[in-house]
Amino acid sequence: MLSPMKIALFGTGLLGSAIATRLLACDHQLVVWNRHGERCAPLLDLGATAAASPAEAAASADWLITVLSDGATTRSVLIDQVGAQLQGRTVLQIATIAPAESRALAAAVAERGGHYLEAPVLGSRPEALQGRLQLMAGGAEALVQRAMPLLLQLSETPVHLGEVGTASTSKLALNQLIASLTHAFSLSLHLVQQGGVDVEAFMQLLRGSALYAPTFDKKLDRELSGHYADPNFPTAHLRKDLLLFIAAAEQAGLNSEGLAGLAQLLQRSEGTELDQLDYCALHALTAGRTAAATPG
Ligand SMILES: NC(=O)c1ccc[n+]([C@@H]2O[C@H](COP(=O)([O-])OP(=O)(O)OC[C@H]3O[C@@H](n4cnc5c(N)ncnc54)[C@H](OP(=O)(O)O)[C@@H]3O)[C@@H](O)[C@H]2O)c1
Repeated sequence: MLSPMKIALFGTGLLGSAIATRLLACDHQLVVWNRHGERCAPLLDLGATAAASPAEAAASADWLITVLSDGATTRSVLIDQVGAQLQGRTVLQIATIAPAESRALAAAVAERGGHYLEAPVLGSRPEALQGRLQLMAGGAEALVQRAMPLLLQLSETPVHLGEVGTASTSKLALNQLIASLTHAFSLSLHLVQQGGVDVEAFMQLLRGSALYAPTFDKKLDRELSGHYADPNFPTAHLRKDLLLFIAAAEQAGLNSEGLAGLAQLLQRSEGTELDQLDYCALHALTAGRTAAATPG
Protein backbone atom coordinates (compact mmCIF):
# COMPACT_ATOMS: atom_id res chain seq x y z
CA MET A 1 0.00 0.00 0.00
CA LEU A 2 1.14 3.51 -0.88
CA SER A 3 2.21 5.59 2.12
CA PRO A 4 0.10 8.73 2.62
CA MET A 5 1.08 11.67 0.44
CA LYS A 6 0.60 15.36 1.21
CA ILE A 7 -1.78 16.62 -1.46
CA ALA A 8 -3.51 19.95 -2.05
CA LEU A 9 -6.52 19.90 -4.37
CA PHE A 10 -7.83 23.09 -5.97
CA GLY A 11 -11.44 23.09 -7.21
CA THR A 12 -14.01 20.96 -5.41
CA GLY A 13 -16.63 21.06 -8.16
CA LEU A 14 -18.33 17.98 -9.64
CA LEU A 15 -15.14 16.19 -10.67
CA GLY A 16 -12.77 17.70 -8.10
CA SER A 17 -14.92 16.67 -5.15
CA ALA A 18 -15.13 13.09 -6.45
CA ILE A 19 -11.36 12.91 -6.93
CA ALA A 20 -10.85 14.38 -3.46
CA THR A 21 -13.18 11.72 -1.99
CA ARG A 22 -11.15 9.02 -3.73
CA LEU A 23 -7.86 10.44 -2.40
CA LEU A 24 -9.26 10.49 1.14
CA ALA A 25 -10.41 6.89 0.74
CA CYS A 26 -6.79 6.09 -0.21
CA ASP A 27 -5.69 7.64 3.10
CA HIS A 28 -3.82 10.63 1.73
CA GLN A 29 -3.37 13.81 3.74
CA LEU A 30 -5.58 16.18 1.79
CA VAL A 31 -5.95 19.97 1.92
CA VAL A 32 -8.70 21.43 -0.25
CA TRP A 33 -9.29 24.91 -1.58
CA ASN A 34 -12.36 26.15 -3.43
CA ARG A 35 -13.42 29.66 -4.42
CA HIS A 36 -16.75 29.17 -2.65
CA GLY A 37 -15.47 27.51 0.51
CA GLU A 38 -18.83 26.00 1.51
CA ARG A 39 -18.46 23.52 -1.36
CA CYS A 40 -15.59 21.89 0.62
CA ALA A 41 -17.84 20.99 3.59
CA PRO A 42 -18.65 17.35 2.65
CA LEU A 43 -14.90 16.70 2.20
CA LEU A 44 -14.06 18.08 5.64
CA ASP A 45 -16.47 15.53 7.10
CA LEU A 46 -14.42 12.84 5.32
CA GLY A 47 -11.14 14.06 6.82
CA ALA A 48 -9.87 16.80 4.51
CA THR A 49 -8.58 20.14 5.80
CA ALA A 50 -9.73 23.42 4.23
CA ALA A 51 -7.27 26.16 3.29
CA ALA A 52 -8.17 29.84 3.28
CA SER A 53 -6.16 30.56 0.13
CA PRO A 54 -4.43 28.67 -2.71
CA ALA A 55 -1.01 29.63 -1.29
CA GLU A 56 -1.95 28.28 2.14
CA ALA A 57 -3.16 25.01 0.57
CA ALA A 58 0.07 24.58 -1.39
CA ALA A 59 2.29 25.34 1.61
CA SER A 60 1.34 22.10 3.36
CA ALA A 61 1.56 19.78 0.32
CA ASP A 62 4.06 18.15 -2.03
CA TRP A 63 1.51 17.47 -4.79
CA LEU A 64 -0.86 20.11 -6.16
CA ILE A 65 -3.90 18.81 -8.05
CA THR A 66 -5.96 21.27 -10.11
CA VAL A 67 -9.54 20.45 -11.17
CA LEU A 68 -10.72 23.97 -11.99
CA SER A 69 -13.17 24.92 -14.72
CA ASP A 70 -10.80 26.08 -17.46
CA GLY A 71 -7.31 27.18 -18.46
CA ALA A 72 -7.62 30.83 -17.44
CA THR A 73 -8.90 29.90 -13.98
CA THR A 74 -6.18 27.28 -13.52
CA ARG A 75 -3.52 29.82 -14.47
CA SER A 76 -4.95 32.44 -12.13
CA VAL A 77 -5.05 30.03 -9.16
CA LEU A 78 -1.74 28.29 -9.82
CA ILE A 79 0.50 31.04 -11.15
CA ASP A 80 -1.02 34.23 -9.70
CA GLN A 81 -2.17 32.86 -6.33
CA VAL A 82 0.02 29.84 -5.47
CA GLY A 83 2.94 31.61 -7.17
CA ALA A 84 6.16 31.28 -5.17
CA GLN A 85 4.80 28.22 -3.31
CA LEU A 86 5.24 26.24 -6.53
CA GLN A 87 8.95 25.92 -5.70
CA GLY A 88 9.84 22.22 -5.33
CA ARG A 89 6.24 21.04 -5.73
CA THR A 90 4.61 18.93 -8.43
CA VAL A 91 1.42 19.94 -10.21
CA LEU A 92 -1.03 17.38 -11.56
CA GLN A 93 -3.34 19.34 -13.86
CA ILE A 94 -6.60 17.43 -14.46
CA ALA A 95 -9.05 20.00 -15.92
CA THR A 96 -9.74 19.97 -19.67
CA ILE A 97 -7.75 22.88 -21.09
CA ALA A 98 -6.15 23.76 -24.44
CA PRO A 99 -2.79 22.13 -25.29
CA ALA A 100 -1.28 25.62 -25.70
CA GLU A 101 -2.61 26.65 -22.28
CA SER A 102 -1.14 23.50 -20.76
CA ARG A 103 2.29 24.08 -22.32
CA ALA A 104 2.27 27.70 -21.10
CA LEU A 105 1.35 26.52 -17.60
CA ALA A 106 4.18 23.98 -17.66
CA ALA A 107 6.65 26.75 -18.54
CA ALA A 108 5.29 29.11 -15.87
CA VAL A 109 5.43 26.39 -13.20
CA ALA A 110 9.01 25.50 -14.21
CA GLU A 111 10.04 29.18 -14.01
CA ARG A 112 8.89 29.11 -10.38
CA GLY A 113 10.85 25.98 -9.58
CA GLY A 114 7.96 23.51 -9.76
CA HIS A 115 7.19 20.43 -11.88
CA TYR A 116 4.16 20.04 -14.13
CA LEU A 117 2.28 17.03 -15.42
CA GLU A 118 -0.96 17.26 -17.37
CA ALA A 119 -3.38 14.48 -16.50
CA PRO A 120 -6.80 15.04 -18.11
CA VAL A 121 -9.33 12.27 -17.68
CA LEU A 122 -12.20 10.57 -19.48
CA GLY A 123 -14.97 9.43 -17.16
CA SER A 124 -16.89 11.30 -14.55
CA ARG A 125 -17.87 11.24 -10.88
CA PRO A 126 -18.68 7.51 -10.61
CA GLU A 127 -15.37 6.52 -12.22
CA ALA A 128 -13.45 9.06 -10.11
CA LEU A 129 -14.97 7.70 -6.89
CA GLN A 130 -13.96 4.16 -7.88
CA GLY A 131 -10.44 5.09 -9.09
CA ARG A 132 -11.39 4.00 -12.61
CA LEU A 133 -10.93 7.15 -14.66
CA GLN A 134 -9.20 6.85 -18.02
CA LEU A 135 -6.22 9.08 -17.36
CA MET A 136 -3.97 10.55 -20.04
CA ALA A 137 -0.57 11.78 -18.90
CA GLY A 138 1.55 14.36 -20.71
CA GLY A 139 4.98 15.28 -19.38
CA ALA A 140 8.52 14.06 -18.84
CA GLU A 141 8.93 10.28 -18.48
CA ALA A 142 10.73 10.56 -15.11
CA LEU A 143 7.94 12.71 -13.72
CA VAL A 144 5.25 10.33 -14.95
CA GLN A 145 7.08 7.45 -13.26
CA ARG A 146 7.35 9.42 -10.02
CA ALA A 147 3.63 10.22 -10.15
CA MET A 148 2.61 6.70 -11.21
CA PRO A 149 1.65 5.35 -7.75
CA LEU A 150 -0.72 8.30 -7.36
CA LEU A 151 -2.02 8.05 -10.95
CA LEU A 152 -2.78 4.37 -10.34
CA GLN A 153 -5.10 5.32 -7.50
CA LEU A 154 -7.12 7.48 -9.88
CA SER A 155 -6.97 5.21 -12.91
CA GLU A 156 -6.41 1.49 -13.43
CA THR A 157 -4.66 2.16 -16.73
CA PRO A 158 -2.97 5.56 -16.93
CA VAL A 159 -1.55 6.14 -20.42
CA HIS A 160 1.59 8.23 -20.94
CA LEU A 161 1.08 9.86 -24.34
CA GLY A 162 4.23 12.00 -24.56
CA GLU A 163 5.27 15.54 -23.67
CA VAL A 164 2.98 18.20 -22.18
CA GLY A 165 0.28 18.97 -24.77
CA THR A 166 -0.18 15.40 -26.03
CA ALA A 167 -2.61 14.43 -23.26
CA SER A 168 -4.68 17.62 -23.53
CA THR A 169 -4.80 17.16 -27.31
CA SER A 170 -6.08 13.59 -26.85
CA LYS A 171 -8.65 14.73 -24.31
CA LEU A 172 -10.03 17.36 -26.73
CA ALA A 173 -10.15 14.72 -29.49
CA LEU A 174 -12.23 12.46 -27.23
CA ASN A 175 -14.57 15.24 -26.10
CA GLN A 176 -15.21 16.27 -29.71
CA LEU A 177 -16.54 12.73 -30.11
CA ILE A 178 -18.78 13.13 -27.05
CA ALA A 179 -20.27 16.31 -28.54
CA SER A 180 -20.60 14.96 -32.08
CA LEU A 181 -21.98 11.53 -31.11
CA THR A 182 -24.49 13.04 -28.68
CA HIS A 183 -25.62 15.52 -31.30
CA ALA A 184 -25.88 12.95 -34.10
CA PHE A 185 -27.86 10.51 -31.96
CA SER A 186 -30.14 13.21 -30.60
CA LEU A 187 -31.22 14.32 -34.08
CA SER A 188 -31.87 10.75 -35.24
CA LEU A 189 -33.84 10.00 -32.08
CA HIS A 190 -36.07 13.04 -32.59
CA LEU A 191 -36.68 12.09 -36.21
CA VAL A 192 -37.72 8.50 -35.49
CA GLN A 193 -40.06 9.73 -32.75
CA GLN A 194 -41.60 12.37 -35.00
CA GLY A 195 -41.98 9.73 -37.71
CA GLY A 196 -44.00 7.48 -35.41
CA VAL A 197 -41.30 4.79 -35.23
CA ASP A 198 -41.13 2.56 -32.14
CA VAL A 199 -37.96 3.73 -30.33
CA GLU A 200 -37.01 0.28 -29.03
CA ALA A 201 -37.37 -1.23 -32.52
CA PHE A 202 -35.09 1.51 -33.86
CA MET A 203 -32.60 0.93 -31.04
CA GLN A 204 -32.46 -2.80 -31.82
CA LEU A 205 -31.55 -1.98 -35.42
CA LEU A 206 -28.92 0.48 -34.26
CA ARG A 207 -27.44 -1.85 -31.62
CA GLY A 208 -26.98 -4.53 -34.26
CA SER A 209 -25.13 -2.20 -36.60
CA ALA A 210 -21.59 -0.83 -36.87
CA LEU A 211 -23.02 2.63 -36.16
CA TYR A 212 -23.80 1.87 -32.53
CA ALA A 213 -21.94 3.57 -29.68
CA PRO A 214 -22.65 2.64 -26.02
CA THR A 215 -23.11 6.31 -25.15
CA PHE A 216 -26.41 6.22 -27.09
CA ASP A 217 -27.97 3.81 -24.58
CA LYS A 218 -26.26 5.54 -21.66
CA LYS A 219 -28.21 8.73 -22.37
CA LEU A 220 -31.39 7.30 -23.93
CA ASP A 221 -33.60 7.31 -20.82
CA ARG A 222 -32.60 10.86 -19.93
CA GLU A 223 -33.31 12.03 -23.47
CA LEU A 224 -36.68 10.28 -23.69
CA SER A 225 -37.81 11.66 -20.34
CA GLY A 226 -36.14 15.08 -20.58
CA HIS A 227 -34.38 14.42 -17.26
CA TYR A 228 -31.19 16.44 -17.38
CA ALA A 229 -30.82 17.26 -13.67
CA ASP A 230 -28.09 15.76 -11.42
CA PRO A 231 -25.34 16.18 -14.01
CA ASN A 232 -21.95 14.54 -13.86
CA PHE A 233 -20.71 16.69 -16.74
CA PRO A 234 -22.56 19.92 -17.50
CA THR A 235 -23.49 21.37 -20.92
CA ALA A 236 -21.34 24.47 -20.30
CA HIS A 237 -18.19 22.30 -20.16
CA LEU A 238 -19.16 20.41 -23.33
CA ARG A 239 -19.42 23.76 -25.14
CA LYS A 240 -16.07 24.86 -23.70
CA ASP A 241 -14.43 21.64 -24.89
CA LEU A 242 -15.93 21.78 -28.38
CA LEU A 243 -14.71 25.37 -28.77
CA LEU A 244 -11.25 24.33 -27.54
CA PHE A 245 -11.26 21.48 -30.07
CA ILE A 246 -12.24 23.83 -32.93
CA ALA A 247 -9.47 26.28 -31.98
CA ALA A 248 -6.89 23.47 -31.78
CA ALA A 249 -8.09 22.03 -35.10
CA GLU A 250 -7.78 25.44 -36.75
CA GLN A 251 -4.26 25.84 -35.36
CA ALA A 252 -3.44 22.43 -36.83
CA GLY A 253 -4.70 23.59 -40.24
CA LEU A 254 -7.72 21.26 -40.28
CA ASN A 255 -11.12 22.06 -41.71
CA SER A 256 -13.53 21.96 -38.76
CA GLU A 257 -16.35 23.79 -40.56
CA GLY A 258 -18.63 20.81 -39.97
CA LEU A 259 -18.60 21.54 -36.24
CA ALA A 260 -19.59 25.19 -36.58
CA GLY A 261 -23.34 24.47 -36.47
CA LEU A 262 -22.97 22.31 -33.38
CA ALA A 263 -20.94 25.02 -31.65
CA GLN A 264 -23.63 27.56 -32.59
CA LEU A 265 -26.31 25.26 -31.19
CA LEU A 266 -24.41 24.85 -27.91
CA GLN A 267 -23.96 28.63 -27.68
CA ARG A 268 -27.74 28.83 -27.29
CA SER A 269 -27.52 27.22 -23.86
CA GLU A 270 -25.17 29.93 -22.57
CA GLY A 271 -26.69 31.81 -19.68
CA THR A 272 -29.72 29.49 -19.54
CA GLU A 273 -30.52 26.71 -17.08
CA LEU A 274 -29.29 24.15 -19.64
CA ASP A 275 -25.71 25.20 -18.95
CA GLN A 276 -25.60 23.56 -15.52
CA LEU A 277 -27.61 20.48 -16.56
CA ASP A 278 -26.24 17.22 -17.95
CA TYR A 279 -24.71 17.69 -21.40
CA CYS A 280 -27.30 15.44 -23.05
CA ALA A 281 -29.62 18.43 -22.55
CA LEU A 282 -28.27 19.12 -26.03
CA HIS A 283 -31.30 17.00 -26.93
CA ALA A 284 -33.54 19.91 -25.87
CA LEU A 285 -31.72 22.15 -28.34
CA THR A 286 -32.19 19.80 -31.30
CA ALA A 287 -35.94 19.49 -30.64
CA GLY A 288 -36.91 22.17 -33.14
CA ARG A 289 -35.43 24.92 -35.30
CA THR A 290 -36.79 27.52 -32.92
CA ALA A 291 -36.59 25.40 -29.77
CA ALA A 292 -36.23 27.57 -26.71
CA ALA A 293 -33.19 26.72 -24.63
CA THR A 294 -35.30 25.03 -21.99
CA PRO A 295 -35.34 21.36 -21.14
CA GLY A 296 -38.40 19.16 -21.36
N1 LIG B 1 -17.40 16.63 -14.54
C1 LIG B 1 -16.80 15.73 -15.28
O1 LIG B 1 -17.30 14.62 -15.45
C2 LIG B 1 -15.49 16.02 -15.95
C3 LIG B 1 -14.83 14.95 -16.60
C4 LIG B 1 -13.60 15.21 -17.22
C5 LIG B 1 -13.07 16.48 -17.20
N2 LIG B 1 -13.73 17.48 -16.56
C6 LIG B 1 -13.12 18.82 -16.55
O2 LIG B 1 -12.70 19.10 -15.22
C7 LIG B 1 -12.84 20.50 -14.95
C8 LIG B 1 -13.78 20.67 -13.75
O3 LIG B 1 -15.04 20.14 -14.11
P1 LIG B 1 -16.26 20.03 -13.10
O4 LIG B 1 -17.30 19.24 -13.81
O5 LIG B 1 -15.80 19.63 -11.77
O6 LIG B 1 -16.72 21.56 -13.07
P2 LIG B 1 -17.56 22.36 -11.98
O7 LIG B 1 -18.40 21.46 -11.16
O8 LIG B 1 -18.20 23.47 -12.75
O9 LIG B 1 -16.41 22.96 -11.03
C9 LIG B 1 -15.60 24.01 -11.49
C10 LIG B 1 -14.59 24.37 -10.43
O10 LIG B 1 -13.85 25.53 -10.88
C11 LIG B 1 -14.00 26.55 -9.88
N3 LIG B 1 -13.97 27.88 -10.49
C12 LIG B 1 -14.70 28.31 -11.55
N4 LIG B 1 -14.42 29.60 -11.83
C13 LIG B 1 -13.49 29.98 -10.91
C14 LIG B 1 -12.78 31.19 -10.68
N5 LIG B 1 -12.97 32.26 -11.44
N6 LIG B 1 -11.88 31.21 -9.67
C15 LIG B 1 -11.67 30.12 -8.88
N7 LIG B 1 -12.31 28.95 -9.05
C16 LIG B 1 -13.21 28.89 -10.06
C17 LIG B 1 -15.33 26.29 -9.21
O11 LIG B 1 -15.37 26.94 -7.97
P3 LIG B 1 -16.79 27.35 -7.31
O12 LIG B 1 -17.35 26.08 -6.71
O13 LIG B 1 -16.42 28.36 -6.31
O14 LIG B 1 -17.65 27.88 -8.44
C18 LIG B 1 -15.25 24.76 -9.10
O15 LIG B 1 -14.39 24.36 -8.06
C19 LIG B 1 -13.36 21.12 -16.25
O16 LIG B 1 -12.27 21.57 -17.01
C20 LIG B 1 -14.05 19.95 -16.95
O17 LIG B 1 -14.13 20.14 -18.34
C21 LIG B 1 -14.93 17.29 -15.93
